[in-house]
Amino acid sequence: MENRDPVVHLDRGFWIVTAVIAVLAVIAAWYCGTYDLARILPEAAHPADQVDALTTFMLASGAALFVVVIGYLLYFCIAYRRRKSDAPDAIGVQIHDNHALELWWTVIPAIFVVVMAFFSVKVWYGIEIAQPTNGIAVESIGHQWYYTFRYPNVHGEIPDAMHLEENVPVTLHVTSTDVIHSFWVPTMRIKADMVPGLINTLHFTPTVPGTYKIICTEFCGTLHSQMEKQTVVVEDHAHFIAWYNGWVNKTKNLSDALPTAGSGAIALTGGDAAAGQTLFSTKCSACHKVAPFDQKVVGPGLAGLLSDPNHPNLVNGSKATPEDIAGILQHGYKGDMGTMPDQTANALSDKDVANLVAFLKNQK
Ligand code: CUA
Repeated sequence: MENRDPVVHLDRGFWIVTAVIAVLAVIAAWYCGTYDLARILPEAAHPADQVDALTTFMLASGAALFVVVIGYLLYFCIAYRRRKSDAPDAIGVQIHDNHALELWWTVIPAIFVVVMAFFSVKVWYGIEIAQPTNGIAVESIGHQWYYTFRYPNVHGEIPDAMHLEENVPVTLHVTSTDVIHSFWVPTMRIKADMVPGLINTLHFTPTVPGTYKIICTEFCGTLHSQMEKQTVVVEDHAHFIAWYNGWVNKTKNLSDALPTAGSGAIALTGGDAAAGQTLFSTKCSACHKVAPFDQKVVGPGLAGLLSDPNHPNLVNGSKATPEDIAGILQHGYKGDMGTMPDQTANALSDKDVANLVAFLKNQK
């Protein structure tokens, strides 16, 4: 038998199919390329427009490529299927070394990848590297399982929503105190890992006033799915300044040092149990039930702390006295039972701590 490659003639069917595929590919690319992604998820910040343009470009190219690949796949499956008249051991036509074809299927994807890389790096540079000339610098710190923020001249970490101003560029530095978290604001198309010992930076400019979700997208423990916070973009400069000055004043006596053992013991006289109950339901109930010690949510059940003679010692090993309970609320706890934020991170005033202790004392 002669060792010669067979010559394959593409028939009329092939060219008809090619024309149909070309038309469908153009339609698919046009549909995806003109689809407004903001209809699915609003754009609330400056990189969002660029990120969406990049996504649209990739969607349109991907849609066209999908139609071409699947179109020919289906056509060849049907046109070159095994016929009844074929011998049982017949094999398909063996084709190799088509230099023109190989050149095109290398050059076209290579050009596409270079164009995509160029666009991606440009958007990435704007978000992560480029320094805006003015604006505000904010820091966010991830904790299990909440976010805190630091602003210039605001002492300590504040647990409030992240407030920003419309059209004022933001330089945001993110990090973490415990495990890897993530800082993601879908409507602003910004996202960065919060890594202990590492500071990641994002640059963006809020463009639409509103309240948007910050979501943790890195599995970080039991309450990962509940780790959410809000960012509030205000239109009015005076409104922002009022909020900002409020925190400057509230924190002016606080230290910038990360929360550690605070100053003196908190005075517990005059604690209001009813106020403590309200605080408990907003600040504590995500992790604690008023139930026996072993009814754990994230932390242990807190009923009978003082009244139950069989109640074990507190998690820090001290015995349960009102002063020791106040001590844990003040300084937080980190150990084999988990992590409890301290007074600053929970935004509890000394009075709040006294009220909570008054409430807990009464729980049988
Ligand atoms: Cu923090 Cu997931």
